[in-house]
Amino acid sequence: MSHEEELTISLTVNGENVRCSVPVRQHLVDFLRGELGLTGSHIGCEHGICGACTVRVDGAIVRGCLMLAVQADGAEVTTIEGLTESGEIADLQENFVTRNALQCGYCTPGMLMTAAELIKAGKPATRDEIRIFLSGNFCRCTGYHAIVDAVETTLKARLQHGCKGASDAA
Ligand code: FES
Ligand code: FES
Repeated sequence: MSHEEELTISLTVNGENVRCSVPVRQHLVDFLRGELGLTGSHIGCEHGICGACTVRVDGAIVRGCLMLAVQADGAEVTTIEGLTESGEIADLQENFVTRNALQCGYCTPGMLMTAAELIKAGKPATRDEIRIFLSGNFCRCTGYHAIVDAVETTLKARLQHGCKGASDAA
């Protein structure tokens, strides 16, 4: 196959049906950003290291720079825009602000996507466990302490209220 060859894919992105012809070698994050204008998913390393490109595919987080757009054919994709609009992480986002868990913000969408994965599991986690869970998402600004604070605060509040999602609790 040449680089220019294209395939048509059909998928759901943030609840919307999308049908598009894409280059067979285009990465999912490039497709989301370039074709759909969903620039909340960032590109850092492009090698699966930093986690800036984290998105949710069929309920699980993946690195958008390690997955081809054609591999998402038939999938349900959620980006940070979708997660924000649904209200699923409204409390987590609020706690990020309250705890100063972001500075430049470059890592933040990916960090929120990964933290949302931990929180939606609805299980208690220690600070160490939170750190380990987030360890695939790099942040060059915060030193991680405030991020762990924000995630821990959100998780504890959710467990206290016996809910798995902010939108569920509404
Ligand atoms: S840009 Fe995908 S992991 Fe860094
Ligand atoms: S807030 Fe700048 S990289 Fe995390």
